Amino acid sequence: MTDWIQRWKDGETGWHRKQVNSKLIEFIDYLQLSQGDTVFVPLCGKSYDMVYLLEQGFKVIGVELSQLAIEQFFDENNLTYTIHQTDQFTMYQGDNITLYCGDYFALDEAILKSVSAVYDRAALIALAVDLRAKYAQHLYSIISNDCRVLLLTLNYPQSQISGPPFAVDEDEVVSLFSNGFECQQLQCFNDIKNEPKFLRAGVDFIEKATYCLHKNGE
Ligand SMILES: C[S@@+](CC[C@H](N)C(=O)[O-])C[C@H]1O[C@@H](n2cnc3c(N)ncnc32)[C@H](O)[C@@H]1O
Repeated sequence: MTDWIQRWKDGETGWHRKQVNSKLIEFIDYLQLSQGDTVFVPLCGKSYDMVYLLEQGFKVIGVELSQLAIEQFFDENNLTYTIHQTDQFTMYQGDNITLYCGDYFALDEAILKSVSAVYDRAALIALAVDLRAKYAQHLYSIISNDCRVLLLTLNYPQSQISGPPFAVDEDEVVSLFSNGFECQQLQCFNDIKNEPKFLRAGVDFIEKATYCLHKNGE
């Protein structure tokens, strides 16, 4: 099992990007958000995409295991915060953004009742297969009906290189979210030429896919 807190301490955060994810910009309209709506970012790290969401006029709720990641997020983006303690979480509260430091699986629907949409980049695919099923079930249980999810995944021959990020193909996405979500694949393409680590390892392909899920309550 990945020791995420240690990874943050050791600076082994190769997934982090200093730019906004181009797929968030390209597909954000599928979330059908209005100004002031709240977007939940599970397993948020110190993702710069959260700054983009704030700049677009949305509120953000994130959850992240590593205190270091959360403090770096606020400090590197020159955002101030206050800290509150609850039973399960340390809450870092900034202007229009609250990051819960603790375990995603300890979140409950009361915390997320204001959420209109979810943005998952490198959250589902950070988890090993058994935890992915638990992640999807938990997401269903904590978000409201009519919530939309923008989900970004990777798929590659898992036998050729180990994760994380783990390979998650379309069949798995459909199956994970078959209970209670409509699932639409928006895009999928092979991007091996832009993935030096995978190229060096001789991996045949790496597909990057974007999905829009819609919780329909059925
Ligand atoms: C691959 S990183 C992706 C971070 C972020 N989504 C991004 O795009 O930069 C996965 C993150 O999930 C966090 N994490 C892993 N398991 C978690 C859990 N059960 N609850 C909260 N955060 C978790 C890790 O500490 C790590 O920062």
